[in-house]
Amino acid sequence: MKGRRAVMAGVAVIVVALMGAYRGYAAHAGEPAPSPVTAPVTAPVVASSDTAAAARGAKLAAVGDCVSCHTATGGQPLAGGLPLQTPFGVIYSTNITPDDDTGIGRWSLDAFARAMRRGVSSDGHLLYPAFPYPHFTHINDADIGSLYAWLMSRAPISAPTPHNELIFPLGFRPIMAVWNLLYLHTGDEAAPSPSEASDVARGRYLVESLGHCGACHTPLNRLGAERRDRALQGGTIEGWDAPALTDLAARPTPWTQAQLVSYLRTGLASEHGAAAGSMRPVTRMLADASASDVDAISAYLLALPAGARSGPEHAVASPPASAASVPVSTSPRSGANLFAAACASCHAQGAPMSTDGARPPLSLSTAVNADSPRNTVRIILDGIDWHESDSAPFMPSFANTFTDAQIAELANYTRERFTARGSWPSLDADAVAHFRKDGLPR
Ligand code: HEC
Ligand code: HEC
Ligand code: HEC
Repeated sequence: MKGRRAVMAGVAVIVVALMGAYRGYAAHAGEPAPSPVTAPVTAPVVASSDTAAAARGAKLAAVGDCVSCHTATGGQPLAGGLPLQTPFGVIYSTNITPDDDTGIGRWSLDAFARAMRRGVSSDGHLLYPAFPYPHFTHINDADIGSLYAWLMSRAPISAPTPHNELIFPLGFRPIMAVWNLLYLHTGDEAAPSPSEASDVARGRYLVESLGHCGACHTPLNRLGAERRDRALQGGTIEGWDAPALTDLAARPTPWTQAQLVSYLRTGLASEHGAAAGSMRPVTRMLADASASDVDAISAYLLALPAGARSGPEHAVASPPASAASVPVSTSPRSGANLFAAACASCHAQGAPMSTDGARPPLSLSTAVNADSPRNTVRIILDGIDWHESDSAPFMPSFANTFTDAQIAELANYTRERFTARGSWPSLDADAVAHFRKDGLPR
């Protein structure tokens, strides 16, 4: 609670500073303050010959995650209304079906391109970077056109977007002009360089632009902008750690291209573990992306210079102990009893799950080997959602089954039993309570 208040106080200071900066900006900037585009945008004309572009757009949208963010739980695809929790309050995704009144049915291609590249809505209001336009700004013209053709070929759905619940005065959107001035880097950063192999160049383009991997895998500064000096070195999002992606080839158990492609497309790499938390929907979408694009993303990540190490809070170090050499704790600790009762049916050596479908042993899990206990606690709390038609794994949530103290013991026992790294010294009931609050309200 105390920590949260401190965060809010910090945010308030920042907001006041932004307000001041905005006033100065509006008064003195050579550039005029953002003014609404009042002229109505003309209705789009999508020729039926655009079906090829729409088909390409569908594959690109899978890389861009448009559907998972723009669809409310149980709602119609792309009709918006999904609440996104940010440190600044709740922001709802908008309706991007071609509905004239509540969606983008009246948007021209230019209006769409401006929203994607500059974070400006068709009526001129500035959008919040919970919409990853700081990445989408690098999408090339052809891909913007294909995404547009695809969106315009969807069924229009009438669904007004709920009002945001932001802390004062962030509901005042013009403030984002200052943010954009500081943190929106438009331009051709993701363009291929001549020295790059073509798949690596394509992968870099997708990771930097449409894929917006850095939105979660890069640490944010206090204004919610990505730290460019630590790109892809690991961030924390919705209560989960998104591990560093800069050292995948240099890990104690190095990722191979085939493993990475499998992880990204199916949510499971038998040598590393499964995708949970906010990575799960990403992999569910990537399953529909073009295979060559996922190959390219993997090629790019594995080609990243291994020198860029993550900070200690996200580093994943020390080789996992092989299953045979792991000392099985014999102490009559309650962690062991809890594990035997609640987890062993799936996670013990030789359990049906480990023999059926070549599931990874917990000794290989990034979460169990990580310096921070966050993701191990998180997965015990949240489990892995069941998703129909999903061939990927399911794990029940234990949030309401165990107390904070029991979860701390379970997580520590899991790490002691499956790695050579011992328990997490910082992990106790208070730490679990903290992780619980950090997650999404369910
Ligand atoms: C991480 C979540 C997220 C992802 C991924 C995402 N969006 Fe959005 N998008 C949002 C949010 C939130 C808003 C509303 C922002 C606001 O109101 O300030 C938004 C707004 C928009 C808008 C402006 C709509 C308007 O009425 O002003 C467009 C256009 C849009 N998104 C298109 C896309 C497309 C196309 C993709 C996929 C390539 C995509 N979005 C992916 C969260 C997301
Ligand atoms: C919405 C947030 C989010 C986005 C966007 C996202 N990731 Fe992740 N990613 C995560 C989280 C959280 C984890 C940890 C999941 C877990 O422990 O099961 C993760 C895990 C991973 C891992 C496994 C790393 C390891 O050490 O085990 C890889 C690889 C990965 N992401 C690649 C990507 C790529 C490539 C993209 C862009 C195409 C991407 N991610 C976009 C949140 C995200
Ligand atoms: C119904 C079977 C089931 C039960 C019970 C279960 N799990 Fe899991 N768990 C899974 C599956 C499936 C995965 C995904 C990875 C995989 O397929 O091996 C997973 C993943 C994990 C991971 C992350 C591994 C990774 O991929 O990085 C941890 C940690 C974990 N479980 C701990 C526990 C603990 C602790 C308990 C007991 C409180 C438990 N699990 C109970 C099925 C189960």
